[in-house]
Amino acid sequence: MSSFQQRPPRIRKMLPDDLNQVIRIEREIFLFPWSPENFADSINAGYDCHVLEQTSILAGYGVMMAGPDEAHLLTIGIAANWQSQGWGKKLLNHFIHLARLKNLRSMFLDVRESNTGAALLYRQIGFKPIAKRKGYYPAMCGREDAIVMKLML
Ligand SMILES: CC(C)(COP(=O)(O)OP(=O)(O)OC[C@H]1O[C@@H](n2cnc3c(N)ncnc32)[C@H](O)[C@@H]1OP(=O)(O)O)[C@@H](O)C(=O)NCCC(=O)NCCS
Repeated sequence: MSSFQQRPPRIRKMLPDDLNQVIRIEREIFLFPWSPENFADSINAGYDCHVLEQTSILAGYGVMMAGPDEAHLLTIGIAANWQSQGWGKKLLNHFIHLARLKNLRSMFLDVRESNTGAALLYRQIGFKPIAKRKGYYPAMCGREDAIVMKLML
């Protein structure tokens, strides 16, 4: 492997030019993906939209909405061939750090009840399940509940 390939990924702001790559990953890893408009609206609304990039290749991304007191992690994704190497945890910790810098008190997120891998990551970081949203997500057979999780910052 060349030193060029070994350079570690960096986290930076998502730009409109990133949307093609973001959407390609989104469609690869989510059964019910966000649309390009969902991401474009998030950028335009001033949400914290960040990507994990190695050279010009995107490995992941996340979107956080900051309110006056609390942060909401709206989505986070790591490209399939980058998963299970610690990058999801790194990106999540980046958003937590960002929320702390903004002096927010807590962070919330929703996770599908069946998404045990993601839920394990959130628990490992310290998120606690606090509520359930009945039938919140579309699913292959009807709807699926969301678990609402909260982290005190
Ligand atoms: C969930 C996701 C962001 C995690 O990112 P990742 O880079 O694959 O995860 P990491 O390598 O950082 O894993 C960190 C911890 O999370 C847990 N974890 C992550 N994915 C897991 C899986 N599929 N099964 C079991 N545990 C998993 C483990 O506890 C792991 O800790 P360990 O390495 O000490 O075992 C990523 O797998 C992903 O994008 N999945 C598809 C989209 C998605 O579900 N997004 C979240 C929506 S709420």
